[in-house]
Amino acid sequence: MSEIIIEPVTRIEGHAKIAVSVGPDGAVTDARFSVTQVRGFERITVGRPMHEMPSFMARICGICPTSHLLASAKACDEILGVTVPRAARHLRRVMNLAQIVQSHALNFFHLSSPDLLLGFDSDPATRNIAGVAARAPELARDGIALRKFGQQIIETLGGKRVHPAWVVPGGVSTPLSTEQRDNILGAIPDAHARAVRTLEWYKENLASWAEEAAHFGSFPSLYMGLVHHRTGNAAYSDGHLRMVDAEGHRLLDDVDPRPYWDYLGEAVEPYSYLKSPFYKPLGYPAGLYRVGPLARLNVVDKLGSPVADAELAEFRLRLGRFPHGSFHYHWARLIEILHCIDTIGQILSGPDILDQDVRAHAAVNNLEGVGVSEAPRGTLFHHYRVDKDGIIQWVNLVIATGHNNLAMNRSVLQVAQRYIKGDEVREGALNRVEAVIRAYDPCLSCSTHALGQMPLVLEIFAPDGELVRRVTRSPA
Ligand code: MG
Ligand code: NI
Repeated sequence: MSEIIIEPVTRIEGHAKIAVSVGPDGAVTDARFSVTQVRGFERITVGRPMHEMPSFMARICGICPTSHLLASAKACDEILGVTVPRAARHLRRVMNLAQIVQSHALNFFHLSSPDLLLGFDSDPATRNIAGVAARAPELARDGIALRKFGQQIIETLGGKRVHPAWVVPGGVSTPLSTEQRDNILGAIPDAHARAVRTLEWYKENLASWAEEAAHFGSFPSLYMGLVHHRTGNAAYSDGHLRMVDAEGHRLLDDVDPRPYWDYLGEAVEPYSYLKSPFYKPLGYPAGLYRVGPLARLNVVDKLGSPVADAELAEFRLRLGRFPHGSFHYHWARLIEILHCIDTIGQILSGPDILDQDVRAHAAVNNLEGVGVSEAPRGTLFHHYRVDKDGIIQWVNLVIATGHNNLAMNRSVLQVAQRYIKGDEVREGALNRVEAVIRAYDPCLSCSTHALGQMPLVLEIFAPDGELVRRVTRSPA
């Protein structure tokens, strides 16, 4: 067994391991992506008062606290049996869209653009955001500014950048002021221009990534996401589930996400703590589906904002109506950034956004609640059962990274089979294995209950099961 350390840091969030098996001829026969830490949030929340859940759940993850905050508050809304006031619903939407902008910007510019701009085989010492800033300063500046745009909205609404406790059961804790609204609206044109400029850069360079687009998790699958129940447009905070197959046939349409257990099973594999949800009627593992930016673009009729919809039309014109390459998560992410920016502008321009009534109060009226929303990485379910005093009895979370678990495994295998031979792992091959995972932007913080970055480990096993190579990268 040999072990080498490759610097610099990996650009994947969390703690993950990839085990690759090779046959006698050196060809890759199997690859597994696994998450190796226990996630305990479903158990440690039992016994807590329900009203503490949103702010507590926001601590699951340092990467996407706002997503958990929203799904949790929605589960609590159902337990209270309240209708969230209109202005509060809109303000929650704004916060969710801002989270998507900042999270997508982090993935695209900080984690993924170094490969896209500098090349998958370029020197790892400069294959990072600093290297991007040196080669293409405007691209790096746009990325930093877009991330800040999203963060500042979250901060404006929630008062704090991390773990904002502003979303509460029944609504939000404080209404929006005229000054806050005007500040956010004032930032929209600049953010919009930066998103459009990045899309132009991406489209000009698309042809240069043809090799990766063809081999980075390119296979037909099902796709799932929330859509607006009347229009079929994208819905990020409140919507109905749609599941389409690889040809676009609707397996689920306009379906209330609440009985998700009717549609989704959760398989457990011994090698990973990350569950593998699957579409029940097709069984495991045939019921593999994808969620997140590419899946959402595939399931929706339209996004619902004009400039982003023109981009979506071009995306479909160039890639087909249902693109199956996970590499295209990148393009999808950029289109969603633009859509979210413009939609924030639309929502905040509405007449009742400054309403002072932003929270409904009630006691426990239902003993069970399910909250569903689109997190940056895909559909997020929070499912709680309480007693009559509102004390949590049981919790199930189905997180976006879990939905994509089967697809990530399949994608890692495809990349390993193309780029790894025997125990030879070129740095560029290791980077491609990581890059296909990065395309899904897994939130391993969510799945591991471990904040911050941890090393990725790649192990290669001989036909007799012997570990022949171990490659690790050091954490940030
Ligand atoms: Mg669960
Ligand atoms: Ni997360």
